[in-house]
Amino acid sequence: MKLNRKDFLSIRDFSRDELETILALCEKQKPLAREHRLEPTHPGRVLACIFHKPSLRTRISFEVAIRQLGGSSLYITDREIGIGSREAPKDVANVLSRYVDGIMIRTFDQGLVEALAEHATVPIINGLTDLLHPCQVLGDIFTIIEHRGSIDGKKIVFIGDGNNVARSWLNAAARFPFSFVLSAPAGYEIDASFVEEVQGHGSPDYRWIQDPLEAVTGADVVYTDVWASMGQEDVKEARGRIFAGYQVNEQLMSRANGDCLFMHCLPAHRGDEVTDGVIDGPHSVVFDEAENRTHIQRAIMALLIQGENN
Ligand code: CP
Ligand code: NVA
Repeated sequence: MKLNRKDFLSIRDFSRDELETILALCEKQKPLAREHRLEPTHPGRVLACIFHKPSLRTRISFEVAIRQLGGSSLYITDREIGIGSREAPKDVANVLSRYVDGIMIRTFDQGLVEALAEHATVPIINGLTDLLHPCQVLGDIFTIIEHRGSIDGKKIVFIGDGNNVARSWLNAAARFPFSFVLSAPAGYEIDASFVEEVQGHGSPDYRWIQDPLEAVTGADVVYTDVWASMGQEDVKEARGRIFAGYQVNEQLMSRANGDCLFMHCLPAHRGDEVTDGVIDGPHSVVFDEAENRTHIQRAIMALLIQGENN
C-alpha cells in the first residue's frame, strides 16, 4: 500500500491503514537492519536534515536510517540557508527540491514546515516543531506494540506539559483505539482549540485529569517529557515550581497497572519530571523508544522517498 501524502507532517494526516503500513514495514525491516542485511532500496538518494533546535536522537537516527537505505544525508543548521530571512521558504523549497530527494526539518513553527511542504516537490518530514513531534509518537506506538502486542484498548497517561509530544499523542488517539489521558496543571493542558480540531477529524478517547494520582490509575503506559521544551528556557524555573507535583516517581508508578510501561521521548531531566529509580527501573523502555526512532523513520522514508521499489 502506498501512502496518500507526499509529506509526513502530522500523524493526523494519515489513515489508520496507512499508519499500519508504516508500522508493518518498520517491523519487517528492524531485524534486517540490526543484522546489516537490509536491501539498499534508495542508493544515491540524499536527505537534507535542517535543524533550528538541537538534537541527539532525531539527527543521528535519521542520518543512520537514510544510510541503511543506501542513501546519504546533509546536516544543515540555522547558520545556513536563512529560511524566511535570507530567502523565502518557497524559494528554499524549490531550490532544495532540485538537489535532494527528501527534507527532514526540526524547527519552531509548524507553519514553516507546511509552507516547505506546499512548495517542495520532494517529501518533507517533520522532525519536531513547537506544535508536534509525529516521528517520536509513531515510534513510541511501535515500541508499545513490540512490548504489549497491540496498542488497542490501552490506557496511555501522559504526565506533564500539554506540549508537542502530547499533541502528537492526541492526534494518534484520533487514529488508534486507545484512551489518552493528559495530567497537567490547569493552564498547561492541550489548548481547547487544538482538541476541538482533532475531534473534528476523528473520535479520540481523550481526557484531561488534573490530579496525577487519579490519572495514572489503571495506566498501561505512563509517559512524561520535560516541563520546559526547547525554546522555553526562560520559563524553566517557574515551570519547575508549577509542575513540582507532576514528577513520575516510584510512588506514582505504584498506582499504575503492575505491568505498566514507563516511556519518555528523552532528553530527560532526571530529578525533575522523572526520578532515576523510574527511568532506570524495570518498567522503563526509554532506550527501546530511542532505538525505534531509527526504525520508524527508515520505514517512513522508504515509503515516501522515491527509491528502486516505489
Ligand atoms: N526525542 C528526541 O527527539 O530527541 P532529540 O531532541 O535528541 O532529537
Ligand atoms: N517537548 C520536548 C521534546 C524533545 C524531544 C521539546 O520540544 O523540547
